[in-house]
Amino acid sequence: LLRAFLYADPAAHSLSPAMHRAAFAAAGLQGEYQALRVPVAELPAALEQLRLPGVLGANLSLPHKEAALAHLDDLSEAARAIGAVNTVIHREGRLTGENTDAPGLLAALAEAGAAGGGQAVVLGAGGAARAAVWALRSQGRAVWVLNRTRQKAEALTRDLGGQAASPGGVPWGAVTLLVNASSAGLSDPTSTPLPGFDFTALAPGALVYDMVYQPRETRLLREARAAGVRAENGLGMLAHQARLAFLAWTGVPVPVGVFLGALEARP
Ligand code: ATR
Repeated sequence: LLRAFLYADPAAHSLSPAMHRAAFAAAGLQGEYQALRVPVAELPAALEQLRLPGVLGANLSLPHKEAALAHLDDLSEAARAIGAVNTVIHREGRLTGENTDAPGLLAALAEAGAAGGGQAVVLGAGGAARAAVWALRSQGRAVWVLNRTRQKAEALTRDLGGQAASPGGVPWGAVTLLVNASSAGLSDPTSTPLPGFDFTALAPGALVYDMVYQPRETRLLREARAAGVRAENGLGMLAHQARLAFLAWTGVPVPVGVFLGALEARP
């Protein structure tokens, strides 16, 4: 029996068990994926458990993505640069920290038909924004970072590249991609990271991508669509980061539709 885990706090409402159980079934593997509530103080001991035979690894979520860095044997280039691990891979007693949020975002954007060229804007300067900026910079994109607290955007861009800005400083007509990586709109249908924004100022054919998927349509997405702009929620990124974690653990390429199907069956 193969085993994988989610370590998070809280962990109860995670969509990862449904996705990975569907993936084990689609891959024809005997596997079990369990979401465990792991308080901060118990993370080191919980990570040690991943070295046991039969354990593939774990996904990490709030509040463990940054704290895990110090407890792993190796880090991928993405995990090291972003400073966050969302997937721990166990091989023969060694633990490697990987970040599949960044390539998961790029895969979701490609599927949503985001043009590779053009400038991008990332909203936010927390962990999710770090993954987004690193991913878009790795594609060679010019990236503007806008954050409610400007100093945090400046610190992020010093680290990862891109340019901190305020809305008035962005050449919106050249922007083909707007990514919300802030938590504005998360669980709150009245909150938006860009109040009063004129979405028609974006380049023709631009895509608005909100990493938020709860609710499925945020105010940002609703306002973009009302202005006739293409807009997608974060379910695609969620599914792709899971697909890439499963691939790293098992070597089995399960189609993203299996993961999306498991999400559609959930509220
Ligand atoms: P995560 O790791 O998920 O990115 P985080 O580190 O708490 O979470 O970062 C949340 C981000 O959302 C921050 O950039 C935050 O802005 P501040 O740096 O000013 O705190 C942003 N954010 C949260 N609520 C917001 C709101 N209502 N409007 C705009 N930005 C918001």
